Amino acid sequence: MLSLITGLHPVGNHPAGWRHPKAWTDTVMNLEQMIDIAKTAERGLFDMLFISDGNGVAGLEWPELFEANALTFKPAVFEPVTVLSAIAMHTQRIGLLATATTTYEEPYTLARKFASLDHISKGRACWNVVTSSNAVDSLNFGKEEHLARYDRYERAAEFVQVCKGLWDSWADDAFVQDKVSGKYFDLNRVHVLDHQGKHLKVKGPLNAARPPQGYPVLFSAGQSEQGRELAAATSDCVFAATPTQRQAIDFYNDMKGRLARHGRQPQDLRIMPGCVVYVGRTEAEAQEDFEEQQALIDPAVGLRHLSHYCDMDLTGHALDAPFPELTADGVGGSSRRYAIAGLARAEGLTLRQTYERMLPSFGHVVLKGSGAQVADVIEDWYRSGACDGFNVHVGYQPAGLRNFVDFVIPELQRRGIFRTAYPGSTLRDVIGLSRPANPFFASA
Ligand SMILES: Cc1cc2nc3c(=O)[nH]c(=O)nc-3n(C[C@H](O)[C@H](O)[C@H](O)COP(=O)(O)O)c2cc1C
Repeated sequence: MLSLITGLHPVGNHPAGWRHPKAWTDTVMNLEQMIDIAKTAERGLFDMLFISDGNGVAGLEWPELFEANALTFKPAVFEPVTVLSAIAMHTQRIGLLATATTTYEEPYTLARKFASLDHISKGRACWNVVTSSNAVDSLNFGKEEHLARYDRYERAAEFVQVCKGLWDSWADDAFVQDKVSGKYFDLNRVHVLDHQGKHLKVKGPLNAARPPQGYPVLFSAGQSEQGRELAAATSDCVFAATPTQRQAIDFYNDMKGRLARHGRQPQDLRIMPGCVVYVGRTEAEAQEDFEEQQALIDPAVGLRHLSHYCDMDLTGHALDAPFPELTADGVGGSSRRYAIAGLARAEGLTLRQTYERMLPSFGHVVLKGSGAQVADVIEDWYRSGACDGFNVHVGYQPAGLRNFVDFVIPELQRRGIFRTAYPGSTLRDVIGLSRPANPFFASA
């Protein structure tokens, strides 16, 4: 079955969508709106609700973009595990996917938080394991520099193993609570981890009972070689940043091909690219709604945005002039600026047309049209081996997700690629993963 995830992000994902007359206002740290999104997603039988996260405020160096929320910066957001614990009390079946970094967290406290979320939600916790994409976060943790990528991923791999060891601290039957004998715990059913590794030293045991799912479902997001290896070795699901079907198929084959080396089967890792969906009752309605959002992009912000992506100052150029020659690469010269310039040149786009093309997708495939048209593309990607599911972004809320649930979900169900009811009771049941056995204890 296809998997679907969506973000708990009341401000939406189109850079100017929040300015739409029908978009929610007052979206900063608004728990009620998040509950509304969660209930809509659960009505649509989504697998999970996702919260991306960092540990700092990024983007202050681009004040015009920051002020316009143009890069969907998140200067004031809830801590993910905390807010998902609240969401758990307003939902019954949908998975709760919280991002947490292995670079700046400690495994003992993090394993405890996810064990708590899994107990609170009765087995719906999922952890998006990241090593932190914002280098400036290091300054909030007493470090002058972000840990180098190799070290970040080495620590991440050890960190995940330590968390698993901590979640295995107690056998499921350790808490006998026998009123007759007076025995509350069985001390033969606890395991002290005593981990001493290169990056971490953790005694254990964890002061939390084994999570209902054994371990929360493990997601990851890294796309580099080390990121892919971490996913192949330990993740149940991985995000993909693949805007074309060809790129998605290549990433899918690459990731599935790595699993055997880690003693795993292709179905053990689910691969989920992002998509941005602009859907309406009809194609014309979707197009009209999309154009309303596009018209709200301030051209000055659009040009700044493009300057940021292309690593060159485009703000002095006429909006309706052709895309200019790229300046020489800066220190961080990236493939993205060549991809954008190449697209603009191949299609003869002006600067305005270029930012209008880039901004509503933010690096993902754009699916626009009626429910059937959007479902056509989803089905094609799914059946062609480009993905196991999608992380669905929408322009603005609450209409974006409601339209997806009302117009796209029935189409996917009709085609037999999406569920019509939640199976089982835990997130592992929903995505078809078994509960890992506790290696330290025979099952009770
Ligand atoms: C869909 C998606 C979601 C991501 N979410 C986060 C996040 O919430 N926090 C974060 O620090 N990084 C996040 N990342 C970034 C990755 O963790 C990673 O830093 C990035 O993909 C670059 O890969 P690398 O670190 O392997 O070089 C996300 C990436 C993708 C593709």
